[in-house]
Amino acid sequence: MIYMSVTIGTPLQSSAYKVLLLGSGELGKEVVISLQRLGVEVHAADRYDHAPAMQVAHFSHTLNMADPEALKALISQVKPHLIVPEIEAIATQVLVEIEEQNIATVIPSAKAVNLTMNREGIRRLAAEELGLPTSAYRFANTLEAFRAACDDIGYPNFVKPVMSSSGKGQSRVKSFDEVDAAWEYAQTGGRVNQGTLIVESQIDFDFEITLLTVRAKNAETGEIETSFCDPIGHRQDSGDYVESWQPQLMTALALEEAKRIANKVTIALGGCGIFGVELFVKGDKVWFSEVSPRPHDTGLVTLASQFQSEFELHARAILGLPVNTARHSTAASAVIYAGVDDTNLSFTGLNLALANPDTDLRLFGKPEGFKRRRMGVATARAETTDHARELAQHAAQQVSVQQN
Ligand SMILES: Nc1ncnc2c1ncn2[C@@H]1O[C@H](COP(=O)(O)OP(=O)(O)OP(=O)(O)O)[C@@H](O)[C@H]1O
Ligand SMILES: [Mg+2]
Repeated sequence: MIYMSVTIGTPLQSSAYKVLLLGSGELGKEVVISLQRLGVEVHAADRYDHAPAMQVAHFSHTLNMADPEALKALISQVKPHLIVPEIEAIATQVLVEIEEQNIATVIPSAKAVNLTMNREGIRRLAAEELGLPTSAYRFANTLEAFRAACDDIGYPNFVKPVMSSSGKGQSRVKSFDEVDAAWEYAQTGGRVNQGTLIVESQIDFDFEITLLTVRAKNAETGEIETSFCDPIGHRQDSGDYVESWQPQLMTALALEEAKRIANKVTIALGGCGIFGVELFVKGDKVWFSEVSPRPHDTGLVTLASQFQSEFELHARAILGLPVNTARHSTAASAVIYAGVDDTNLSFTGLNLALANPDTDLRLFGKPEGFKRRRMGVATARAETTDHARELAQHAAQQVSVQQN
């Protein structure tokens, strides 16, 4: 039996327990708030000033995190105990070295961060090493190979740059006529130009879920244990989540299979923290789609549904503390977009959005909005997910964005 007592110092003093967050979006902001509540000293980094998580952290650092030298310099300046990536566009090779040299702990592990930043890494791990069910897939990095891959997989299929997220460069290809346009589009949406593409067969699912899976240490034994939140259902529009709800009802067999898949993939990735395991479900059948080794956007609903939101779960797990994934309410979340390209925006109608006592709101404080940029989220609790979804969407619609 291993027993270690978890200790946290005082922020801004020599005993401080320091976390460096790489990526300072709205999910990171909630993680920072959870860490602050436990007395952790938080450093938030991003490529632009005044990013959401920076606004609640002790220190902010603006840099290009994909630049290995800049990232190394930041890590040696801050000397964090934990490095917590919140985005995928990071020089992950630096994190592998940092972990090897025992300079800091990478959350959940350098392997997880490195494999999941590239769709090829995680897909090959899940399908080829772990034998998990996935869509059929091919990789291609020339137009010729891409045309062949599309024909091989058949139509309709999904095309995605391997280095991309939030639907960027992604398309659904319905026939051979659309193949060249999908190639062109993918070249513009990836994190690196001329990158590799994945072609996936379309899974004809009944619904898709995020199974939030937490790897955290047992309080007494220090052994890492896996626990699951109730499944989160969500609706995607152009590769971006627009609403989510919890719980998503599914058959007992499908839930068991979902947990088996999530357990297998998170054990392979290793470390402590929360993982958003994305799965497609049809009847009793479940397919693995992808996994985030960090809080998931669809999991914003847990702010309203669980005793410990996915952000608190992550904070606790990475600090070596025990977690509780229990849900107290049925709830839903709905996204609020900027709808315009501008800075210095105002949000009006907030009193109406919150008129129902079972609704709540997060406004992220992003310094600049784009038409399809997520600026906030509304949440609601109700007796059923259908009602919660209605309330959350109604609340989100009450918020209008004004230019100044
Ligand atoms: N093979 C597939 N079959 C059916 N639907 C798919 C497939 N691949 C993707 N989709 C749909 O497109 C959505 C986005 O795909 P995916 O999660 O791979 O991309 P993403 O850019 O990582 O999105 P996000 O960052 O929002 O998770 C999925 O949630 C699903 O609705
Ligand atoms: Mg996804």
